[in-house]
Amino acid sequence: MPAAPRLKVLIPHADIRRRVRAVARRINRDFRGQPVHLIGVLSGACIFLADLARQLDLEVSIDFMAVASYGREKNSSGQVRLVKDLDSSIEGLNVILVEDILDTGRTVDYLRRLLAARRPKSLRIVALLDKPSRRLVLDVRPDYLGFEIPNQFVVGYGLDWAGRFRHLRDICALLPGSGAGRRTGRAGVS
Ligand code: IMP
Ligand code: MG
Repeated sequence: MPAAPRLKVLIPHADIRRRVRAVARRINRDFRGQPVHLIGVLSGACIFLADLARQLDLEVSIDFMAVASYGREKNSSGQVRLVKDLDSSIEGLNVILVEDILDTGRTVDYLRRLLAARRPKSLRIVALLDKPSRRLVLDVRPDYLGFEIPNQFVVGYGLDWAGRFRHLRDICALLPGSGAGRRTGRAGVS
């Protein structure tokens, strides 16, 4: 039988809450008096987006997209494909793309091109977490960031491992031996 995954708290919920408030304050300042359109990348960003949106003191609208990635670990030409598109047009809107984590940068690179082609008024990227040491698309950088973390596989606060642990309040590292990082190369929805 496979060993039960072992978790270690990396960022406790209180720290996440404080940091989400700080990120929201910057967005409030940058967009004062203007509406913003949040686009969450399903499913990982849903909890971060929900908390962030409620700290915004602006006119806010929300939409979601979903993508799937192929062969991220095994194949350096890992491809991203759209699984769920937006419900409405973003032309002329202040779009803020909300991601759970920037890893290789491929997902955000794909999405920012797709969104930019739809002529928003502005396009910013907010990410809860960033693992810069893993970046392959070097010019992908968040405009707003929660935390920079080392190259560790993390779960909780929206992030999953094989569909598990999204509901955890803290961000936790999945300890070696838990099977993290062993990906099959099958399509995986973020
Ligand atoms: P990228 O396209 O390589 O930047 O991958 C981004 C996506 O991979 C994220 O949106 C997550 O869904 C997933 N991902 C990357 N690192 C982690 C992690 O440590 N835990 C959980 N999901 C991760
Ligand atoms: Mg994701």
